Amino acid sequence: SPTNFALKHPTERISYDNSGGHERLAGDPSKRAFTYLVLTGGRFIYAAGLRLLVLKFILSMQASKDVLALASLEVDLGGIEEGSTVTMKWRGKPVFIKHRTADEIAEADNVNIGELRDAEADDDRCLEKKWLVLIGVCTHLGCVPLSDAGDFGGWFCPCHGSHYDVSGRIRKGPAPLNMEVPEYKFLEEDKLLIG
Ligand code: FES
Repeated sequence: SPTNFALKHPTERISYDNSGGHERLAGDPSKRAFTYLVLTGGRFIYAAGLRLLVLKFILSMQASKDVLALASLEVDLGGIEEGSTVTMKWRGKPVFIKHRTADEIAEADNVNIGELRDAEADDDRCLEKKWLVLIGVCTHLGCVPLSDAGDFGGWFCPCHGSHYDVSGRIRKGPAPLNMEVPEYKFLEEDKLLIG
């Protein structure tokens, strides 16, 4: 047979495995796992880099530092006399701060809440009774109401004639809601932080 012939007449052109199988090592002779491990290390770096790029790009669309710096407003209440209203600018909108007199506080409380279009008690609209803080934007179409004007001693919107009372609540005219109260807190007795 050809096999017997080849065994009897070995030539240079045929190579024989004389190791008896000992060269086939047990386990993972090609070290595939090691290769994958190295590749995985690279992929960790790609993933981290990609995440960084995506986050950098998305966060670049967020509000910048100059905008955040104007996000809150500190107001010194010491200079605001009783009975007067000051207007401040906060986030591009006017904010009314009214130092209410005892009479005005009584007037704000002495209202039948059931009759109001936007029923809200005065206590729910201020932290301290003598300070009323409002966003000075009419809830009808966004005009700025006039302070200390109107039929209810509060504000009057000249655009279409909405009257607000001394708690900033809508009493007469087309506006659907009370003037909005911004988020604020007292830092000290006479210091207010809006925003
Ligand atoms: S915007 Fe104030 S009444 Fe219309």
